[in-house]
Amino acid sequence: MIIAIDGSAASGKGTLARKLALRLNYDYLDTGALYRAVALSLMKAGIDVNYIDENQAVKCASEMDLTLTKSPEIRTDLVASLASNIASLATVRAELLTLQRAFAAAPPSGNGAVLDGRDIGTIILPDADLKFFIDANISIRADRRTKELLRGGQSAIFRDVLAAMKIRDYRDRTRLVAPLRAAEDAISIDTSNIDADALLALALSYFETKHRVE
Ligand code: DC
Repeated sequence: MIIAIDGSAASGKGTLARKLALRLNYDYLDTGALYRAVALSLMKAGIDVNYIDENQAVKCASEMDLTLTKSPEIRTDLVASLASNIASLATVRAELLTLQRAFAAAPPSGNGAVLDGRDIGTIILPDADLKFFIDANISIRADRRTKELLRGGQSAIFRDVLAAMKIRDYRDRTRLVAPLRAAEDAISIDTSNIDADALLALALSYFETKHRVE
């Protein structure tokens, strides 16, 4: 079974995807990490973050260094913001699309796959078996992200995190290519008032219902 999870930043989609994959013994692909890795490799190449050279970004995507997707260096707000900018380029998205579809078509462990991102249920895997769309109140999400950054040893101020998140949300939702939106057949969940365990339990109940039907 293929599970697609889309949603906004710090909505809890990544934690859900990871926990679901672990519980079901499925493989997990964090597609945001792919865009972040492209952003980080551009930064390492010394680019001016205010001017993105599209050809260079496409080259980084096509020569994707997958080890960067595991690097803690991709988890800064600066990388997230650059990743969101790069993600509005159709050419970069096209480059990363193949990799994401190949992962879902042949998950390394031979079981199912869980992919999370912004356009998994709409563009990458429109035929996914189960789709979730995860969102939450932006102040709650900014608070979560601030705490996460502080836990990771980075400096973070709620007000700045909230402002950056508003810009990123707006860009991700309004870009012309593959904007963040719920697929028509996605199950929408608002996580403003539920924790990660409750979200996992809810998602598992949908999974079991789906499994029983098929
Ligand atoms: O999920 P994340 O915060 O790690 O994603 C970082 C950025 O990458 C996000 O702001 C938009 C982009 N992204 C995307 O456009 N499509 C995806 N499938 C995943 C991420």
